[in-house]
Amino acid sequence: MAPFMMSFAVILSLTSSFFSWSSALYSNSRKDTQTAVAVTKRLQFLLEPPVFAEIIGRRGENVTLPCILRIKPKHYKVKWTKVEPERIGLESIVMMSNEKAFKPYGHLGQRASLRRAHAMDASLLLRHLELDDGGQYRCELINGIEDENVIITLRIEGVVFPYQSKYGRYRFTYPEAKDACVQQDARLATYDQLYRAWTEGLDWCNAGWLHDGTVHYPIIHPRPVCGGELLPGIRSYGPKDKTHDRFDAFCFTSQNNGSLFYISGALSYDQAEHACKTRGSELALVGQLYAAWRFQNYDRCDGGWLKDGSVRFPISNPRNRCGGVAEAGVRTFGFPNKMMHLYGAYCYR
Ligand SMILES: *[C@@H]1O[C@H](CO)[C@@H](O)[C@H](O)[C@H]1NC(C)=O
Ligand SMILES: *[C@@H]1O[C@H](CO)[C@@H](O)[C@H](O)[C@H]1NC(C)=O
Repeated sequence: MAPFMMSFAVILSLTSSFFSWSSALYSNSRKDTQTAVAVTKRLQFLLEPPVFAEIIGRRGENVTLPCILRIKPKHYKVKWTKVEPERIGLESIVMMSNEKAFKPYGHLGQRASLRRAHAMDASLLLRHLELDDGGQYRCELINGIEDENVIITLRIEGVVFPYQSKYGRYRFTYPEAKDACVQQDARLATYDQLYRAWTEGLDWCNAGWLHDGTVHYPIIHPRPVCGGELLPGIRSYGPKDKTHDRFDAFCFTSQNNGSLFYISGALSYDQAEHACKTRGSELALVGQLYAAWRFQNYDRCDGGWLKDGSVRFPISNPRNRCGGVAEAGVRTFGFPNKMMHLYGAYCYR
């Protein structure tokens, strides 16, 4: 009988005591976070997630993170938590629910609901994905006896691009790099995002900040000037001093809901800006150009001004007379003098 008594002691409705209890859980489960990636404990109530452990979505899409009960305990709650990239060690509750009530938490909670497709369904619906939503999520079944959890990874499908200050190479402190990515409709990339981009062909010889405060660069074709004749891979400088060390940035963005178009001409920066405005749009951000290239195969062999003052063009079908590089990519002319009447404009609306 003891387990039943215990379960009564901890089955609380959504009252104020509930909150202190859940914050106690919060600190206890810190340690679990490190080991929870592989479910080690044999699960009694929850179904292991071997098939759908990774869910993929683009910005703006809706996804379902699966969590299915196998056996329904008499009384239980379901708690969904976002386990942020582990190295940072933060986590945040998305929602808690019992069979009647649903309580959302934080900014993720505003876009979350339980699917409840059937009696055993505790899957989380997340609407209108944002760039920061990627990471690990934990579905926790709390019944007061043996709490159980499964971890589901949400991956935002997107594109990683290197970004350099208009003042030149290696000018960003960590906060500046972070801000620079946001200015380009992007976020600092995580290591996982950079790694995936490397497998997809990103080769870049300048080191850049990542989201966790480390500095890396991805090399596919090893060469002496880029870290020597090591094997292809991600070169690491490890964690750096966020306020004093200066590097470039690796930014991450995903699809957007606008459209990007080119206006041809031999325009100065100001004329390019004006040309976009007269068409009800604005000069595009670097992240918007990369998203169009990645998700719409946008291909244009003409340099055009972007909002940050750089001139770039996106190539999906590499050909000799367009930059002469064999790989697809977004090419850059850097930050030319804004008075030069040489380029068109990439606009976004
Ligand atoms: C996401 O879900 C919302 C509300 O359920 C719906 O209005 C919207 O159309 C969905 N968006 C997509 C991209 O499916
Ligand atoms: C388009 O995307 C932006 C940024 O993600 C968002 O703020 C805006 O609400 C979206 N607009 C529509 C119509 O979905």
